[in-house]
Order: sequence, then structure tokens, then C-alpha cells
Amino acid sequence: MAYSDKVIDHYNNPRNVGQLDKASSEVGTGLVGAPECGDVMRLQIRVNPETQVIEEAKFKTFGCGSAIASSSLATEWVKGRTVDEALKIQNTDIVKELSLPPVKIHCSVLAEDAIRAAIGDWKKKNGVAEGAEVAQPTAR
Ligand code: FES
Repeated sequence: MAYSDKVIDHYNNPRNVGQLDKASSEVGTGLVGAPECGDVMRLQIRVNPETQVIEEAKFKTFGCGSAIASSSLATEWVKGRTVDEALKIQNTDIVKELSLPPVKIHCSVLAEDAIRAAIGDWKKKNGVAEGAEVAQPTAR
């Protein structure tokens, strides 16, 4: 099985590797594992409390090349989106962008799960009900 050029690029030059302060109320952390292979992905976001825009995203993945590429891409895609916009990212978008073959689809699912888990953690910390739209700041 050959990896696509985009997977190889993200694998060789992963974007946004690292970690954010888990204790900060602005930071949401998602830690997920794939039962298929045991690979683990941690994705963190830092959300602007005024605008609910994800301003920073970091990841660390212990896994295959596709999982690393999927999480690297996920951090790029969530940045600049509001949390609710980021929830619209689907693993199928990642599969398409990275041309993942069928045996590697679960790696993209891991990235979608990690985004959802990070946003869920942030919502929980900030008292936003799961699945609820985040209230927009009132115009002044
Ligand atoms: Fe399991 Fe890629 S082989 S995450």
C-alpha cells in the first residue's frame, strides 16, 4: 500500500505537534484510541472565550503514518473555525483530502473523534451543554 504525497508530507512535516496547558479553561483536550490497532491520539484546542474561535491547536499521535497525517491535518483545519464549525469536520473529508485507502479509514475516524473529544472537553469546562450551540457574544 502506498501513502499519498499529502500523507507523506504531513508525516515528514507534521503541523502543530505539541501540547497546550490542559488546566487552562480555554483549552480542550481530546484523548482517543483506536480499538482496531491500539494507536492513540491527543488533540488540544485553545478557544477564544469571546469569539469561540479556535485560535491554536496541537496534537501528539502515537500511531501509524495515516493517523499522524490525519491529526496534523485536523489541527490545521480546526484553526480559525468556531467550535461549532469545527464539529462539522468529518472523517470522510480527511479521507478525501489525504486519499486514504479503505484499510486506513479508521485512522481518519480517530482524528474526527479527537476533534469531538477536545471540543466536548472545552464545552464541559465552560458549562456549555454537549451539542448545544455556543452563545455568541452580544453586540455592543
Ligand atoms: Fe490505526 Fe492508523 S493503523 S490509526
